[in-house]
Amino acid sequence: MRRVLAVFGTRPEAIKMYPIIKELKDNRQINLRIAVTAQHREMLDGVLREFSIDPDYDLSLMTEGQSLCDLTAKALIGLRAVMDEALPDIVLVHGDTATAFSAALAAFYSGIPIAHVEAGLRTYRSRDPFPEEFYRRSISAMSDLHFAPTAGAAEALIREGIPRAGIHLTGNTAIDTLRLTVRSDYRSSITERIGDSPFLLLTLHRRESIGEPMRAVFRAVRRAAEHSGLSVVYPMHKNPAVRRIAECELSSSGRIILTEPLSVTDFHNLLARSTLVVTDSGGVQEEAAFLGKPTLVARHTTERPEALSASCRLAGIGEKEIYRMICTLLTDKEEYRRASVSTDAFGRGDAAVKIADVLVRQIFKL
Ligand code: UD1
Ligand code: UDP
Repeated sequence: MRRVLAVFGTRPEAIKMYPIIKELKDNRQINLRIAVTAQHREMLDGVLREFSIDPDYDLSLMTEGQSLCDLTAKALIGLRAVMDEALPDIVLVHGDTATAFSAALAAFYSGIPIAHVEAGLRTYRSRDPFPEEFYRRSISAMSDLHFAPTAGAAEALIREGIPRAGIHLTGNTAIDTLRLTVRSDYRSSITERIGDSPFLLLTLHRRESIGEPMRAVFRAVRRAAEHSGLSVVYPMHKNPAVRRIAECELSSSGRIILTEPLSVTDFHNLLARSTLVVTDSGGVQEEAAFLGKPTLVARHTTERPEALSASCRLAGIGEKEIYRMICTLLTDKEEYRRASVSTDAFGRGDAAVKIADVLVRQIFKL
């Protein structure tokens, strides 16, 4: 029996770790333990409930407006205690959050092998996104196994001198989850309200945009909605700094539906039905590109260039340009068609099977 400890703490990590948990939990040769830092609380709990994930350890770390110093320090100490008790043969971390970084560091200090899911994403700008680019590069430096979601991510790791034997091209588990949730007969209170009208789905949360840049993106979306008559759905991130700006810039417009964070199933189905998307989210870029949904990425860079070869476009964070790009997608049929290209660069929905197979057969030789 081999012991695997999966550690995560935020909504996107839970969504993308879920398919791996599903693969490993019924394997009788694997003793899978799950530790959550609860760096996110409500947004994490929603996913845990939706997918019936029952953590063995919950560090319950979230505080309002938490600083990165406090968060990483508490996670590092808390996860060391979890690892001392669980004695895992390998620790599984996902992506580039403070939780993933702290879990990898705690495992590294304790001499426990680390497997990194969604490895090799890069912008090569150390503060863009902040602090994720630093976290993901640091995790690569500590990890033994690197599950690269795309060929480009695997090549980036090879260029950085990571031994090829530790790199496995698997696809992204985001697509595995997406394939479980989207249904043609989906209905919700939001779809009832919007009917068959076109709508824009908006998500915005990045730390480095909080302040004037985020205001500018909201203003661009609002102006485009009012100009074109388009509805907008914005499930607000729980970060109070984000909500303050969103409420100030968006709440008085009758065209905009501000909601609490949606369940994964609700969000994925709205994404599949939306006319276009404006987002700064990493996961949403992958999902939108897989579905071929025209998407403006409200950032200057992306670590997911594969999405740009399909339905995503970098729009920057300037009000004028985002407004212009939304209006173009709504009025120029040819441009809309060119932006409706889907890709399987992020995989076809079998990433978790591949990851479990590497762990069970190649690493544990079971
Ligand atoms: C975190 C990750 C980011 C990821 C994002 C996904 C870090 C440093 N950042 O950013 O990489 O893209 O999650 O959403 O790891 N809050 C709640 N309830 C929740 C979640 C958050 O109230 O369920 C509030 C709290 O006040 C918290 C704040 O949001 O302090 C910020 O949360 P935090 O996890 O520190 O940063 P995110 O911006 O969510
Ligand atoms: N998502 C969700 N509910 C929402 C908004 C997003 O379930 O109301 C999902 C979305 O499908 C994607 C993930 O959350 O899988 C993205 O999370 P987020 O944007 O918070 O983080 P990032 O991917 O930028 O790290």
